[in-house]
Amino acid sequence: MEFYDYEARLNRPVKVKIPDFQTGERLNHIIFADQLTRTTLERLTRTADQIRVLAKSSEGARYLNDLLRHKRAMLYFTQPSTRTFLSFMAACQILGIACSEVRDPSTSSEAKGETPFDSMRMFSSYFDIVIMRSRIPQFAECCAYMMNDLRQTSRRSIPVVNGGAGADEHPTQALLDIYTIQRVLAFYHPRDSSHWTLFDELRERYPELRKGIDGKIFGFSGDIRRGRTIRSLATLLSQFDGVKLYFISPKHPKLALPQDFRIRLLNRGVEVREFHAFDELADGEPVIESLDCLYMTRIQREHNRPEDEEEFREIDFGKYRLNPKLVARMKPYAPILHPFPRDAEFGEIPTSIDNDPRAHYFRQARNGMWIRAALLAYLFDVDATINDYYANYTREVRDYNMSAL
Ligand code: NCD
Repeated sequence: MEFYDYEARLNRPVKVKIPDFQTGERLNHIIFADQLTRTTLERLTRTADQIRVLAKSSEGARYLNDLLRHKRAMLYFTQPSTRTFLSFMAACQILGIACSEVRDPSTSSEAKGETPFDSMRMFSSYFDIVIMRSRIPQFAECCAYMMNDLRQTSRRSIPVVNGGAGADEHPTQALLDIYTIQRVLAFYHPRDSSHWTLFDELRERYPELRKGIDGKIFGFSGDIRRGRTIRSLATLLSQFDGVKLYFISPKHPKLALPQDFRIRLLNRGVEVREFHAFDELADGEPVIESLDCLYMTRIQREHNRPEDEEEFREIDFGKYRLNPKLVARMKPYAPILHPFPRDAEFGEIPTSIDNDPRAHYFRQARNGMWIRAALLAYLFDVDATINDYYANYTREVRDYNMSAL
């Protein structure tokens, strides 16, 4: 198989492709953020919440660890990755899935001329799922088509999960981003009581404030065009009601919001605005002060061409660095997120911000482990089993506590 074998399928609009990645109503391959509907998101976040509670007790952890002992996963990551790779591996470990990895194709038979497609077909012989990241754009999508063709001819076929493809998609990062946003904007506080809640306190200052994602303003700063995590997250957010997406980037066409994506968001009824500094005004208020959530990104320098280096010299990149003074002006509840890695040399988020209560990027990375475990549980069809076990488990804990009274 070669790329051109899939060309006709690759060139279709996303909406038309989506049924190809499902078996009936159920998602089988995870390739695009657009596959993740609000219903699926709710299902995954519920399971993730349950897994994180169960994993805390040895009984719950043992239960989870027994669920998928008969499954094996291949982590095929030929492009650099720390968090996506490790959190998928940890997610597999939580559910008892055995993992293997290929990270450097020069140590596999690809060094002897084997095509990545043949490698993939081999993985499907030994494993039950492939989670992959490749520098070849659309490769994960092609692999999903290959698996569909194998199934058509009654041969072994396994789910493909895209862990970051080219510049366009990173659907599972968007999942953990949205999971984090939902948790923060639920405004629960460990000290909430019948006398005081964080939410009530915030409402005194922001009477219009509502819980949840609907109606909120999301700011994205940095390398908007080349950041695949931004595309995937903005796609998920566009499903919510009345969200506003503010993109803050240099004016350069290689870094700013691309026109096709802007149109796609507008067609979904999202309010899209572009800015070039945190201090520009949005409805009379500086952008930085108006945001309900700020998603920072690094400038993806590894994609620079020599002519870009030349042109980028004109840009004042300092405008896309956060500092404690800017953070102090943000809404007190607005989370600061970053898909990581942050670029220490560039300094889009200096470490002096890490202890601010709004800095959620480390929690965000940990959430990746829980939501990816939920995704794997869903793909292997054990999430409903977890939901049932959890209901019994919490009932037992409650009964025990009641009897101790
Ligand atoms: C991102 C990626 O690889 O797209 N990292 C990640 O998966 N958390 C972001 C980046 O590389 O800047």
